[in-house]
Amino acid sequence: MGYRILETEDVPAYLRERGHWDDIDDIHVREVSDGNVNRVFLASDTAGNRSVAVKQALPWVRVAGPSWPLSPDRADAEARAYEQLAKVAPDKIPAIHGYDADNYALVMEDLSDLGVLRTVLNEGGSYGPHTSARIGELVAQLSFATSDFGMPSAERKALIAASVNPELCKITEDVVLSEPYIEHEHNHWHPGLDDLAAEFRADTRLRTEVADLRHTFMTSAQSLLHGDLHTGSIMVGERDGAHVVRVFDPEFSFVGPIGFDLGLYWANALVSEERARALGTLTDHGDQLRLSWEAFEAEFRRLWPARVDTFFDDAYLDRFLRRVWTESVGFAGTEIIRRIIGFAHLTDLTTLPDPVPASRRALVLGRELIVRRERLTSPQDIRALV
Ligand SMILES: Nc1ncnc2c1ncn2[C@@H]1O[C@H](COP(=O)(O)OP(=O)(O)OP(=O)(O)O)[C@@H](O)[C@H]1O
Ligand SMILES: [Mg+2]
Repeated sequence: MGYRILETEDVPAYLRERGHWDDIDDIHVREVSDGNVNRVFLASDTAGNRSVAVKQALPWVRVAGPSWPLSPDRADAEARAYEQLAKVAPDKIPAIHGYDADNYALVMEDLSDLGVLRTVLNEGGSYGPHTSARIGELVAQLSFATSDFGMPSAERKALIAASVNPELCKITEDVVLSEPYIEHEHNHWHPGLDDLAAEFRADTRLRTEVADLRHTFMTSAQSLLHGDLHTGSIMVGERDGAHVVRVFDPEFSFVGPIGFDLGLYWANALVSEERARALGTLTDHGDQLRLSWEAFEAEFRRLWPARVDTFFDDAYLDRFLRRVWTESVGFAGTEIIRRIIGFAHLTDLTTLPDPVPASRRALVLGRELIVRRERLTSPQDIRALV
């Protein structure tokens, strides 16, 4: 059967066809798509004993409709990423019940008892003690396993070939890693930032540094990435008295530089900090970059003795991790900037009574992270800058 676009009323029969559910008369479905790109449905039974989430990629961007075509192959990328993540970090992703490649639809664990981290933070919540550590560990587990340290060379080449994600990579290359630094119709910003937006476009040194990061993004095939690891791709909450963290939406996944995943998370943490500072609600925001880096580094070092290629020695590990750190700092800067003067902005800032002071602080921080990344060698250096 060909590609069918599911509507809410199609989901019960679809779940039965796919073998996920027998009694379709007792399935209640609601659409919860709040992202820009895909459709997400939650299905549950009356008694509330069973529920699943169904995510389907349409052949276009959901909020734009057919006027913005986008290949549904991104769902294959998402399924591939979950397949790798399930091997090394099953406790940090939703359980995947099945992927239907014909319909670009993924059936997975319903996470609606948890909250999206960005929403939790915007409502004044804190990160809690474990969130950033889990994120750092997940990045280490995924990146080690899918790097030339975790996988034999030939298997890695096959992974790289299978994981190309050209359309979504191009979106990142454009909206994150070039458009904010040129005149482009996608760009927009608060009028209170006119001077900084113009300054950034005229800053040739900044532009060359962004070009360097962009080229790293395009060419550095270090490991499989999540590819879109912002606070809107993370759910947090309590289950049975334990704090749980789940990462979702890896549709931008491809084999790229590890620092892109860490950097995106850091940028979003730093922006959440500027929001909290503006509102006088700062709690643990300032610790998150350090906590995620420390967890990443500790987990990567823990896995290192199991590497498949021991020509890479311990001194090389130090050098490798230093390079990942530096690139993460740079990518964090690009993510901050594009979220303020580029195409897609963050509710962390847009919902502030006056977004300008926090946005200005974040923009300047973003630029410093990019141009000074070689000299910022530790989380303490970044705290000093903030
Ligand atoms: N497994 C799940 N359980 C419960 N809710 C979910 C699940 N997956 C997604 N959602 C809900 O649907 C929303 C959109 O999901 P997701 O981010 O995967 O879609 P997207 O269209 O790729 O979004 P984006 O535009 O951010 O890329 C989430 O913010 C969340 O509220
Ligand atoms: Mg998405």
